[in-house]
Order: sequence, then structure tokens, then C-alpha cells
Amino acid sequence: MADTTCDSLCKLFFGAPFVTASVALSKQFLKKLIAFFESRCLPIHDALFEELASLMVVEQNDGRDFNTYFVGKKSITVLSNRSILMNGTTGLHSWQAGKMFSLFALQNQHLFASKSVVELGSGTGLTGLVILHMCNPRNYLFTDHNPLVIDLIRQNLTINGFNDKNLVAALNWFDDRSTILDVLVANNPDVLIGCDLIFDIDLIPAFCQTLSTILNENQKCKAFIMSTLRNTHTILSFESQLLRKNLSFSKQEFKAENDSCFFINPNCHFILHEITVHLKSVKLLQ
Ligand SMILES: C[S@@+](CC[C@H](N)C(=O)[O-])C[C@H]1O[C@@H](n2cnc3c(N)ncnc32)[C@H](O)[C@@H]1O
Repeated sequence: MADTTCDSLCKLFFGAPFVTASVALSKQFLKKLIAFFESRCLPIHDALFEELASLMVVEQNDGRDFNTYFVGKKSITVLSNRSILMNGTTGLHSWQAGKMFSLFALQNQHLFASKSVVELGSGTGLTGLVILHMCNPRNYLFTDHNPLVIDLIRQNLTINGFNDKNLVAALNWFDDRSTILDVLVANNPDVLIGCDLIFDIDLIPAFCQTLSTILNENQKCKAFIMSTLRNTHTILSFESQLLRKNLSFSKQEFKAENDSCFFINPNCHFILHEITVHLKSVKLLQ
């Protein structure tokens, strides 16, 4: 979608950098705008209806949108699926916790500057692209287990001008210790991140084992895991598995900020776990 009526209206109403090329959001915005004019019996320009109709045609195409986020003076474009589950994976959609973590990274760039960052379950790659573009990491490794998701990350990297093949690796939390460490050998991480990975109780033990493997390999490494608060039981299960693995954590809750450039759903609440190797166990080992 080029610079459309909808984009121009978004700019007019909300001002840059509050613009997205998401078909769904543009459609939602136009519908609200038309309803607003209707409720006040104001004339509605034909261009608005034409734009809405053309968006409806686009939306029927293949379920994918190019979303452009204006971050500082840069723009980041991410191809993402509107369906949360597609071809048996959740990884082709950009999740709210990934957007929340992108905002957190923008507000805490020092945590990533000059650091080696490894991301688990990267999905579309939005969060990593924000960190790569805005936080100046020493290096960054996107990982996921699903080949379709890995292809999408590579596509999104190319769209944004990153062509280095070594930025992406296949990593499955069910892999054994040596396979996981082999994947990370060139990227010994200072910071490990993950967004919206705590949703399926059956994945939590393998995920916590992966955290434990990586954090114990480099005990100075910290993990930041951002989750959407849906089910307290799932979060409690994650926390108890962390403790069982001798990992300690602190946590912080977040609400979406209305004026963020990532269009975070205002109804979502998030929890960020900062995880390290349990200090007591480090002392005992020494
Ligand atoms: C809900 S999506 C979140 C994606 C992305 N982090 C975001 O915030 O948009 C969960 C991600 O975890 C990945 N995942 C699920 N099981 C996995 C496993 N066993 N090993 C590695 N990645 C896995 C999926 O492929 C998917 O990309």
C-alpha cells in the first residue's frame, strides 16, 4: 500500500510516527472515521469509501500484511500473518509481547548496546530488527525451530537490508545440551531474550531447560522474557520451573502505552522476567 488516504489521515489525526501499513488497522481506522462522520451527519468524501473497498480486496488476498513501524528516524517493515496460527505455527504472526519488548528495548537501549544478544522463538523477527536498528548490539542471533518461521525471519531481514546469513539459526528447545551450545558457539550471549513464549504448559520444561543450559554456560548472561498475561497458572508454572532449575528471577508488569509506535493492544498486560543463574548456586559451585 503506497502513501494512501488512510495513511495521510492517520498522520493528520495522530501525527508521525503513528503510522502503519497494516491493512487490518487501516481498515479499522477508516471504519471508525466513517462512523464518526455519520454520527454527526457530516458529508463523507468518496475517497474514504474507495480506500476502504480497496483495503477489503487486499485483505482477501493471502492473509499477510507488510507492517511498517516508524521508530525514531528509521522505519522497520515486517511481513507478518494476520492469523495467530498458520501452517501449524504461531511464529508467522507478530505477537503483542514482541511489540511490548520492542518498546522496552527502545527505552533501555543500554541493556543491548555492544552486547551479544540471542533471541529464542523469534517469530517474525520484529523485536530483533528493532534491537538491531536502534540498540547497537555487538551481534544478534535470531533463533526458532520452525523452518517456515526461519524463512520468514530471513525474508524480513532482507526487506530491512540485513543480508548476513549468520544472523539466523535453527534452535529447538527440545534439542540436547550439546546441540544447543553448538548453535550458540559463535554467539556466546551476554543477553538472552524471548517474547510470548510462555503460553503452552507442555513447552515450559524444555524452554526452562534451554534457559538453564545457556545461562549456566555463561553465568554473566541475563535473560529477559516478556510474556502476555493471559493465564496466571501458566506464569506460576514457568516461575516454579525456573526455581527448580536453580534460576533466580525478578519481575515487572507492564501495560501498553497508547502513544507507542508499535500499536500495542491497550487491553494487554505484560510481565517481564529478568532471569539469572541462582547466586547461591554460583557461590556453592566456586
Ligand atoms: C507465540 S510465538 C512468539 C513469536 C515472537 N517472539 C513474537 O513475539 O512475535 C512463539 C514462537 O516460539 C517458537 N517455538 C515454539 N516452540 C518452540 C521450540 N520447541 N523451540 C524453538 N522455538 C519454538 C514458535 O515457532 C514461535 O515463533
